[in-house]
Amino acid sequence: MSFERVKTGIESLDALIEGGIPKGRIILVAGGCGTGKSILSTQFLYYGAKHYNEPGLMITTEERPKSIRQNMLRFGWDLKELEDQKKLAIIDAASPKARIPSSEMYKISYYDTNSLLLKIYEAVNEIGAKRAVIDSIPGLALRLESESEIRRAISQLGSLLAELECTSLVVSEVNIPGRLGRFGIEEFIADGVYLLENTLTDGRFERTFSIVKMRGTANSKEVHELKITDNGIEVIPRSE
Ligand SMILES: Nc1ncnc2c1ncn2[C@@H]1O[C@H](COP(=O)(O)OP(=O)(O)O)[C@@H](O)[C@H]1O
Ligand SMILES: [Mg+2]
Repeated sequence: MSFERVKTGIESLDALIEGGIPKGRIILVAGGCGTGKSILSTQFLYYGAKHYNEPGLMITTEERPKSIRQNMLRFGWDLKELEDQKKLAIIDAASPKARIPSSEMYKISYYDTNSLLLKIYEAVNEIGAKRAVIDSIPGLALRLESESEIRRAISQLGSLLAELECTSLVVSEVNIPGRLGRFGIEEFIADGVYLLENTLTDGRFERTFSIVKMRGTANSKEVHELKITDNGIEVIPRSE
């Protein structure tokens, strides 16, 4: 069975996954702090909006939109321009979390699951988003009291993204080796899991990228090198 593929914006990655992510699927991007998860996710949205005619939605819970816009200029990615053209929308979920006011066009004023899901639904419809990024899943769980509530929220989010037919990357920051999510459910809402790591080899840190799981795709099982350059992320394939 073959799927329509969505290009990630990272050619070297697409080459490892039969040309791209199966359209409408959800990928979990897991890894520790500083491993490149946010850059990879933004690259996916930027290329989608700029080059592949697929508007994108980003929900940011950790970093404020202002700082993302600024940081991404480093790679030559002008997010503001895409936002002005209604090809990109950034929902500010970071300011309310830090309890500071936000002058963003898209924001959630109160942290509860229903208003967040509604906001995502509205924004996706407004700009006709075909791609979505949630950065990050643990950041969303802040106001939720119990683990069961968190699991329910994550699973609702997964259903909504699937319903909206958005090809999505959901970021999970995990600092325990071998774990892919914090709540034991993240990997179940996902059709694929990418793991980004910083590993200490021969006295120096090496960035790596591996595909832990990918439904419906004959993917590479190797641990590849990941590079962050002035043009964004690049995966250096390690042949099998
Ligand atoms: N222009 C650049 N060239 C090389 N590395 C960069 C550049 N900009 C940022 N980085 C590196 O990217 C990392 C942060 O990536 P990010 O995607 O924010 O990580 P995460 O979201 O996983 O915490 C940092 O370790 C930083 O050193
Ligand atoms: Mg990040």
